Amino acid sequence: QKGRTPLIAGNWKMNLDHLQAVATVQKLHWTLKDAGHEEGSVDVAVFPPFTDIRSVQTLIDADRIPFGLGAQDLSAHDSGAYTGEVSGAFLSKLGVGSVIIGHSERRAYHNEDDDVVNAKVKAALKHGLVPVICVGETAEDLERFGGSAVPVAQLEKALEGIPTSADIVVAYEPVWAIGSGQAATPAQAQEVCAALRAAISRVLDAEAAARTRILYGGSVKSGNIAGFMREPDVDGALVGGASLVVDEFAAIVRYQK
Ligand code: G3P
Repeated sequence: QKGRTPLIAGNWKMNLDHLQAVATVQKLHWTLKDAGHEEGSVDVAVFPPFTDIRSVQTLIDADRIPFGLGAQDLSAHDSGAYTGEVSGAFLSKLGVGSVIIGHSERRAYHNEDDDVVNAKVKAALKHGLVPVICVGETAEDLERFGGSAVPVAQLEKALEGIPTSADIVVAYEPVWAIGSGQAATPAQAQEVCAALRAAISRVLDAEAAARTRILYGGSVKSGNIAGFMREPDVDGALVGGASLVVDEFAAIVRYQK
């Protein structure tokens, strides 16, 4: 036993409008209930687009749906003249509990570097949000440096200057595995997740390393999740495409069955 509650998180990316979001969360809740899924055995979280958050939060609250609610990004700033940005303070006020930071799509399409990621991690913590810090190497990095070097360096930078008591989640998402249908092997994921845990121990401390959940992400499906979850340093998954299909995502949540 790893002593960490598994976390299955769905990153919807730019999919599902607020009406579709409500229908999806309702259906997921009932699918899991009908299947006899035991609440609390696995933490479930959804990360919808900003425009869905209020609707999903209202539904979760009204129907006491036991899912965590997260955002896909936040501003490094609290408020001010930053057109188009969303502050952690606003997310927190809406009942959002966590926020994805440094997803490879933001690094690639919005030029987010390790300094921006570090500033956003600090902003999230300041507003009581759990940062879900994404790291991962490209296919080229993998060939040149192996699996661990780039994600470890990204994580070390992301964690700079944060308190050892910080509640964080780390997601290892090899860029070459995202949306490609070509997932890492459980052994590859384990090797990098173990290296990331060692990095947490170095930058924060051993206690932080032992309690922090490290997720694998990249072409996770119902057919491969169990293999990842058997690895000692993999505590869950950050699921993209498969999180949009309710029956498939529910099957991932129920990987133990
Ligand atoms: O954040 C999740 C992600 O990037 C993985 O996407 O579609 O390969 O599961 P996907």
